[in-house]
Amino acid sequence: MGENVKVIIGDKTFEYPVSVGSENEKGFDITKLRGDSAYITIDNGYANTGACSSAVTFLDGEQGILRYRGYPIEQIAEKASFIETAYLLIYGELPKKDDLNQFNRKIISQLELPKDIQKIFDAYPSNGHPMGLLSAVISSLSGFYPKLASSEVSADEINQTIPLLLGHMNTIAANIYRKTKGKGFSAPKQDLNYVQNFLHMMFDGKVDETMVKALDALLILHEDHEQNCSTSTVRMVGSSHANLFASISAGVGALWGPLHGGANQEVVEMLQDIHKEGGDVDQFIVLAKDKDPNNKVRLMGVGHRVYKNFDPRAKIIKQHCHDLFKKMNIKDPLLDIAIKLEAAVLKDSYFVERKLYPNVDFYSGLIYKAMGIPTEMFTVMFALGRLPGWIAHWKEQHDNPKSKIGRPRQIYTGHTKRDFVGIDNR
Ligand code: SDX
Repeated sequence: MGENVKVIIGDKTFEYPVSVGSENEKGFDITKLRGDSAYITIDNGYANTGACSSAVTFLDGEQGILRYRGYPIEQIAEKASFIETAYLLIYGELPKKDDLNQFNRKIISQLELPKDIQKIFDAYPSNGHPMGLLSAVISSLSGFYPKLASSEVSADEINQTIPLLLGHMNTIAANIYRKTKGKGFSAPKQDLNYVQNFLHMMFDGKVDETMVKALDALLILHEDHEQNCSTSTVRMVGSSHANLFASISAGVGALWGPLHGGANQEVVEMLQDIHKEGGDVDQFIVLAKDKDPNNKVRLMGVGHRVYKNFDPRAKIIKQHCHDLFKKMNIKDPLLDIAIKLEAAVLKDSYFVERKLYPNVDFYSGLIYKAMGIPTEMFTVMFALGRLPGWIAHWKEQHDNPKSKIGRPRQIYTGHTKRDFVGIDNR
């Protein structure tokens, strides 16, 4: 008989079963709570609420641990490729050589976009944020592939959609970059790999292998992160049996926010502001700690809902940043400011007491900037990396016959019953 949790309400005691995960995480199942007691739970930001069970990614925020299907992120980032990791996250196991080659071939063959998609690019305002275009184009794929967007797709149709979406996303993201530069559409090449194609399309054929290696690792580090805001959004939309294109498009919208994926753009803009003001990080830190409601300064790229220790991805990205800058002989004053800022955060009691450490977004923007990618494209890069994780979670939920539509409750705090008042008597 498993462990139970007792909930005492008034003179009644209710017992609820405890679920224990493979890493001994525990949660008690309150499915029957409202029926038993008319009570619901309230949990601002779902900080203590599990929305589902999942076998895709495990992270331990206290220990700074991140594993994709059980493999430590440090090993994956060093030894796997982005596409190999996508296969692992989506299908649950590292691919054998033939499986990987076939998966890769399918994705590369799907880099080519339907011709009419260019009309959506042309119609989108040239000064519009790239994430708006990304979300729109992904959602439009349901119109170009109606069979794959039906509400009851088969397993085979889902397996057709996955390489199509991974391939198309690459060309969409690269051509969104080109649009920000006022350049025309660029087409992929079948004899290049996934990341080479992305750089080839973005930079008119210029493909630097140092950049390919750094970008492949960066994309891996963004591939999944369990129930973060955008992945939970993809799962919520998918829970209504909405198609994969619509669910991913919604995930792009959630990722756009500056508290989530938009933070990488905010970090570089923050570093540029500090640089413009003379590079005084101490003065900025004072501002970032100021609780005045009118003070909007926040130390972007620092702090995390789950990590109360160093984000393991930040450590790896910081090393890649150093390696790339050294190899490309790049001197960027923003990197020096970032290093000073990190050192100041790690010894400042405000941040130490609140367990606020640099997160995945703190250094990633500096690498994108070194690649010549504009700041407004940074979150598109995050989405390109996160796509396999979003797909993995959507598929995991879709394949689970016990999944239900997401529909949280609320505590109503508005007016109690009152009668309508005619316009002349208000
Ligand atoms: C990502 O969930 C994921 O896994 C996300 C992600 C992924 O891979 O999908 O890891 C990617 O989104 C990383 C996070 C990127 N966002 C930022 O870097 C934005 C800056 N960080 C913060 O806004 C904040 O830390 C959050 C949003 C990330 C987390 O916020 P929480 O968990 O809701 O915590 P909180 O806002 O309640 O903060 C707790 C305290 C507060 O102070 P007190 O009320 O205790 O006095 O810490 C303070 C906050 O004011 N605080 C900060 C701070 N972050 C938190 N103070 C100054 N600067 C900061 N960055």
